[in-house]
Amino acid sequence: MDYVLIERDEEIAVIRLNRPEAKNALNLQVIAELGEAADIVARDPQVKGVIVTGGEGDFAAGGDIKEMATKYAPDMLTAYGADLSGFEKLERIPKPVIAAVSGYALGGGCELALVCDMIVASDTAVFGLPEITLGIIPGAGGTQRLPRLVGPNRAKEMIFTGSFYKAEEALAMGLVNKVVPVEKLMDEAKALLRKCTRHGAVALACAKASVNEGMNTDLYTGLAYERKCFSLLFSTEDQKEGMTAFVEKRKPQFKGR
Ligand code: HXC
Repeated sequence: MDYVLIERDEEIAVIRLNRPEAKNALNLQVIAELGEAADIVARDPQVKGVIVTGGEGDFAAGGDIKEMATKYAPDMLTAYGADLSGFEKLERIPKPVIAAVSGYALGGGCELALVCDMIVASDTAVFGLPEITLGIIPGAGGTQRLPRLVGPNRAKEMIFTGSFYKAEEALAMGLVNKVVPVEKLMDEAKALLRKCTRHGAVALACAKASVNEGMNTDLYTGLAYERKCFSLLFSTEDQKEGMTAFVEKRKPQFKGR
């Protein structure tokens, strides 16, 4: 892949955007490569958790405006519409996924962070959905995932004004989980991820699916989904180990099965 790198740190896979000359702008190729990277880390049984990042530079300054500038609706409905499935592939990785954001996370970049399960921001991070200033609206989930996360009023403020928000403002509105010094960004993101990945992988996958399914449906459908996941986990070795370890007053050794 040209613009997306996959690095490994023990059980963590880091998906790193690498198009610094364009502030990691998301052209069709970058989005397709993100989808490929999502497939690779989702399938790899050694990978227990994932970080999506642009490193200490910028996260991503949005969809590639130069690539989109001359496009018409049919182009956007076909090539772009199909390619945005790369974002959905990332969202569906059945493992915890953290966005580690420094610098600009604008437009499609902000939307990329929103498909992750949690967002750790550095103190240099700047979030925004400036599409309205280009005569368009967010097209990769900004009008859908953002209001579910921060509520419709705050989402509308971001979307209608196109304003930029510093990391601390994003924290106050509930867009990010944590703000850390830029030089500690990756360490803090990995530390948070490891607090998750030390638990059983099947339970984590079920927890993620249950929250995500529940966010997209009514309460009672969500509760029924949760009950099925909850019950299914009683057929795993990890459930037996977790509860036996509690009774025996020791730490559990989860195997992810
Ligand atoms: C293409 C981009 C880009 C983008 C930056 N660049 N953002 N190219 N698409 N979204 C390029 C610039 O053209 C420039 O290239 C180089 O990156 C450095 O950017 P500068 O503007 O010179 O840097 P700076 O003055 O620091 O300003 C940074 C910035 C600004 C505030 C992030 O670049 C900016 O406003 N970018 C656009 C942000 C935006 O509107 N995003 C939403 C896009 S629409 P050259 O060749 O001149 O050096 C969208 C829809 C989602 O996201 C679609 C689905 C994915």
